[in-house]
Amino acid sequence: NRRPRVFSGMQPTNASLHLGNYLGALRQWAAMQDHYDAFYCVVDLHAITAGHDADQLRQRTRVTAAQYIAGGVDPERSTLFVQSHVPEHAQLAWVLSCITGFGEASRMTQFKDKAARQGADATTVGLFTYPVLQAADILLYHADKVPVGEDQRQHIELTRDLGGRFNSRFGPTFTLPSPYIPEATAKIYDLQDPTAKMSKSVGGSGLIELLDEPKTIEKRIKSAVTDTGREIVADRENKPGVANLITILSAMSARPVADIEQDFVGRGYGDLKKEVTSAVMETVLPFQQRVRELLDDPAELDALLARGAAKAREVSAHTLRQVYDRIGF
Ligand code: ADP
Ligand code: NA
Repeated sequence: NRRPRVFSGMQPTNASLHLGNYLGALRQWAAMQDHYDAFYCVVDLHAITAGHDADQLRQRTRVTAAQYIAGGVDPERSTLFVQSHVPEHAQLAWVLSCITGFGEASRMTQFKDKAARQGADATTVGLFTYPVLQAADILLYHADKVPVGEDQRQHIELTRDLGGRFNSRFGPTFTLPSPYIPEATAKIYDLQDPTAKMSKSVGGSGLIELLDEPKTIEKRIKSAVTDTGREIVADRENKPGVANLITILSAMSARPVADIEQDFVGRGYGDLKKEVTSAVMETVLPFQQRVRELLDDPAELDALLARGAAKAREVSAHTLRQVYDRIGF
């Protein structure tokens, strides 16, 4: 009678996570540890689909793991590991790619979007098969739930399709996961273009990066786009910049939006930005401190990740053995 499983991961593509990653993912992960048997992975295999630098990737993988821990992932309670340390991810991905239709993979909207941006010659086969690898990541651990953003829904559908297809061709093997998108999860928008979500692929001064200099964070919040009005209300349609700042303040201080609106009647945008800044700093400063401590002892961090990989392999090796057996290897 095991606790339900969750699997989730983020790419070590950037040195720092941004506030959207923290509020939309990491903070949820930490909260879920109480009720789930959680597997949290730094998905470095996914980070090489569009060209990268080896030393930078090595460093960013460590920094990402350190941020998971600083954000509340407890390596004693959860299984925290690096994807490339567990060979079964790539092994299962190959098997799944052989039951994935070419047309089916071609219909993934994230792939189509990214490929359109990169152009056909710059787009790798790795990027194309990325959703199949993601399916392998999830199915390996028999995850029941996958905490993801709305944009990942289609990939979880593919995961279910592939798992179900394998089960019906070769016998019951995989648990079919469902997406877990908590109602209360805040979606954070870009500070400079508050109609677009805060994203590392947009980048620039619209991001709040958790590992940035506190001064830089302060400056970015100060120069966040608002509007020419003066009312402080969470009106996404007409006042996306102000609404975004309210969302951030609400999420960081655990205060309901209505209370914040009430509190700011008759006050100006400058005041709002000041409060947003202090609420963000209250989390960011200890977060940065914890990341520094962890990175100061790379041997300990590596040992911790090695223990995480060993724990993950207890499950993944078992699943892969079963898969190989079923398909005649
Ligand atoms: P990015 O858009 O910066 O590339 P990812 O797609 O790697 O971020 O997302 C990693 C995790 O962070 C996902 O769970 C995603 O849903 C969450 N996330 C990313 N951006 C935001 C955002 N602006 N608001 C809320 N959650 C976000
Ligand atoms: Na993204």
